[in-house]
Amino acid sequence: MKAVKIKDNVYFVGAIDYKLRLFHGYSTEKGSTYNAFLIIDDEITLIDTVKNEFFDEMLERLSSVIDPKDIKHIICNHVEPDHSGALNKLLQIAPHASVYASSPSGISGLKKYYGNIDIKPLKTGDILKIGKTTLSFIQTPMVHWPDNMLTYHNETEILFSNDAFGQHYAVNKCFDDEVDLNEAIIQAKKYYANIVLPYGAQVGKALSASSNLKISVIAPSHGVLWRKHIDKILQVYNSFVDEKSENSAVIVYDTMWKSTEKMAYVVQDAFAEVGMSTDMMDLQNNHISNIITAVAEKKYLAIGSPTLNNGMLPSVAAFLCYLKGLAPKNKHFLAFGSYGWGGQSIPQIHDQLISCGFSPICDPQKIQYKPSIEELAKLKENIINVLK
Ligand code: FEO
Repeated sequence: MKAVKIKDNVYFVGAIDYKLRLFHGYSTEKGSTYNAFLIIDDEITLIDTVKNEFFDEMLERLSSVIDPKDIKHIICNHVEPDHSGALNKLLQIAPHASVYASSPSGISGLKKYYGNIDIKPLKTGDILKIGKTTLSFIQTPMVHWPDNMLTYHNETEILFSNDAFGQHYAVNKCFDDEVDLNEAIIQAKKYYANIVLPYGAQVGKALSASSNLKISVIAPSHGVLWRKHIDKILQVYNSFVDEKSENSAVIVYDTMWKSTEKMAYVVQDAFAEVGMSTDMMDLQNNHISNIITAVAEKKYLAIGSPTLNNGMLPSVAAFLCYLKGLAPKNKHFLAFGSYGWGGQSIPQIHDQLISCGFSPICDPQKIQYKPSIEELAKLKENIINVLK
């Protein structure tokens, strides 16, 4: 495997993980890449590394253009091991390389993971001259760990953005104009919704800090690089940061004997009646990380569960736990479901969504055992009345 040229003297030397299907709870049906970048100047510089088990692939790519022992600087934009995991192995091959990370969180994080290695601190505004060209640094804490940092190569105008603007999308092409753009955008939205969503304010600050830069390429640490469609990916990020939800709904449910499912379809009819589109996402057939992507884009969320053992179905509880952690904002919700005797699941869902800071559109809607035609009609009427 060889280094892939990005611009004169700048190369992709990362790894492509076609087989990855789960990234701490996030379904990665398209695999991922761990992007590391090499800048060949008087002082050879590597930006990020790869997951530990992909070290050999990175080394092979590095060796296709340089002797890796000549690496002089290793910039760690982010401590998380998908980007720093190969650091110790690389330092055995390039023992004279200096390691850099954001101060203080990048330094403390790397030392925790890799031992007491010498790390040079970087802060926003610092500049590193690597020969004829220079690197500038912008700290972007909590996008999405405390240590995150952007590196900007002033002469080529490449912004090495690490996790920001990334996608879990394994392709053997580097750029947005070489792949299916629609797929790249879908994966970028999914990435934002599942990784970055709780940190909209911090993303807003990062966008503003980089807005004065002239950018020819945004080079994230996962997926394709943005060069032709920079405006498009910035627009996607800005709309997430502004929390501009579509006037539409996502209906999430699980069912035991199809009573809650019948209610879900009636909820869908009610939204359709007032002119809103819906995504139907039952929890037996949709991964929670795909559901979250839909939730992030929509204003309304309806969640249904029957009652099992005095509570909701475990699939619904798991989804609510994931939803709470990702903390989308400005959502309006409906809790619904069928029950046999206790009926506790529906108010439990309602209360959990209140604790997420969401606004109920009406009281919890529940129907005992098998919904009758009249009960379903009443459910529909109740929802239409509050949505009109
Ligand atoms: Fe791709 Fe936060 O690591």
